[in-house]
Amino acid sequence: MNSEAIPVTPAIDSPAIDSLVISELADFELRLYHGALLAGRLLAGFAPRLGDIPPRAALVSAVNSLIGQAELLHTRIGELRVPREKMGRPSVAAVEQAAELARADDPQRALAWGQALLRGLARLHASARDNCTAETTYHDRRLHERCRVLAEDGLTRFAELGLPAADLGDYLSAPHQAGASVTPTGTVELPLVACPARAYPSWAPRVPAIGGQMPDPDPSKLDDETVVYLLRKGVQIEFIATDVPLRSMADFADLPLGFYTDMNRHAHDEMRHTHLLFSELAAMGVDYKQFPYRDPDLYAAMAGQPLDHRMIVLSRTGEDAAIEVFGNAVPKLRAAGYESVAIMFDHVLADELRHVTYANRWLGHLYDGDDLAVEAATERCLIRHNEIVDEVGLGDYAKREPDHMAFRGRGRPNLELRAMAGFSERDLQRLSAASGGAR
Ligand SMILES: [Fe+2]
Ligand SMILES: [Fe+2]
Repeated sequence: MNSEAIPVTPAIDSPAIDSLVISELADFELRLYHGALLAGRLLAGFAPRLGDIPPRAALVSAVNSLIGQAELLHTRIGELRVPREKMGRPSVAAVEQAAELARADDPQRALAWGQALLRGLARLHASARDNCTAETTYHDRRLHERCRVLAEDGLTRFAELGLPAADLGDYLSAPHQAGASVTPTGTVELPLVACPARAYPSWAPRVPAIGGQMPDPDPSKLDDETVVYLLRKGVQIEFIATDVPLRSMADFADLPLGFYTDMNRHAHDEMRHTHLLFSELAAMGVDYKQFPYRDPDLYAAMAGQPLDHRMIVLSRTGEDAAIEVFGNAVPKLRAAGYESVAIMFDHVLADELRHVTYANRWLGHLYDGDDLAVEAATERCLIRHNEIVDEVGLGDYAKREPDHMAFRGRGRPNLELRAMAGFSERDLQRLSAASGGAR
């Protein structure tokens, strides 16, 4: 799809960049940076409200595009000699429009607006690139071309949705609010409506979380039934693992830019994993729409909780289990002849390691690098998690051992991979001691 052929309301073109002084150019880039970051966070907040695959995939690609643009613009703004504490904030028009969309709580409307915004950005970046013809604006020409490509990439999954046009108002044209940054990135709080439970795909059969029949196959044999079970079990986990980091991006406005780029990449990976699982199931002749989903699921145990709680439950003590599961399963799957599933899980393992690293990194940020404080928070959040599991009605399968580094009956921990996943030296020593000093 060529977005330049589609009318954008209102039409927005860039200033004559070649003739701008640096401070004027910085103001233009700041306007786009604040608009992209705020819009990326706003759209991210709607992820748990979208159950079906095409709108979810479009949303995730739009967020990925917008956060990617914000990251490139942020770097350039620093090069244009804008101090980080003087990034200002988004324009009054952008803040009002984002707040209105957040309060409306209508994911289809938010998606239509996101599509209009990406089209507007694709056009604006093309115009900006074409207005950078002088040698002085070499870096800006490259920047706007890279942002234009990202905007076009973000649009590719929207084509099949058939969304209506949406008016951007002054979102892209109003100047940002100059002055001191109120948050590390200059972004602002969004008045999102609480989302205590996620949406399920419209076609998905459900089973109650407590008492529903989700029998585990015999783990000692690796046959089609077991492999399909592994793939199918992964699908619901990928949904949850997409929604939680995206919703956190929207819910928390006071973190450094690296947090938003990490959470964006995390969610984008999980959406890719969803597609990978679907295609492996299809290759085995299995319809992914036939499998039931537990209702409610783990998303409900994390929704509305503080950020440390979400990262501890989802990643530090949840996705970290994938390290051993996939690490052990990959060679066995290959030996049993499931070559493409083995390769897929090997790549997924690399992603999952990174997701645990993100959680450990940002927990370190929240607790000033104090490993003991992170350990205490882990125990406190897991005790609270087990209470929430009962409150929400998730069933005992969702409960966790509060002393996370204690031996949990899953076999010997892979300390080398856990070190890569950002567990501290103290964590590794405790894990090693708990599993009989295997280090
Ligand atoms: Fe995943
Ligand atoms: Fe993950």
